[in-house]
Amino acid sequence: MNDEERSLLIKLITSYEDDFLGVDQTSLLACLKDIQATFGLIPEEALSLMSTQLKTSPAILRGLILRSPSLRTETKVHTITLCNGERCSNRGSEAFIRSVEKALGISVGSKTKDGRFELKTQRCLHRCEFGINVNIDASEHTQMTLEKLLSELKKI
Ligand code: FES
Repeated sequence: MNDEERSLLIKLITSYEDDFLGVDQTSLLACLKDIQATFGLIPEEALSLMSTQLKTSPAILRGLILRSPSLRTETKVHTITLCNGERCSNRGSEAFIRSVEKALGISVGSKTKDGRFELKTQRCLHRCEFGINVNIDASEHTQMTLEKLLSELKKI
């Protein structure tokens, strides 16, 4: 997104600030529809800008988008890299990997149905003493559990 498009996006979102009373999903939906009408789809950046300016969360916005078949977003793929090296395996990484596959409904090497997450394994993430280790894109997570991972994914 260039500077001109970003300014337009900010102006558009700002125009909804006065309408917004708490979690007013009607205004949020109207704002999302306006953004799509202007840009052809809802840029990923719009979700973070709306979250900040309209004091809501990306999860609420994604929920609205999911419930509105006419709305479309750019899909950014987040890579979840699970360590299957020896020391993480000794801490139960194989069972952890199976539980992540089950929770996301995919196997290592594939993407979730919505295209947002892909699952990979790597034979050591070089933080062995803190395993089980996981990377979500470039962010490093240690002593991982399924609950912690799912909680991290909800923030994205
Ligand atoms: S074996 Fe997992 S970080 Fe090294």
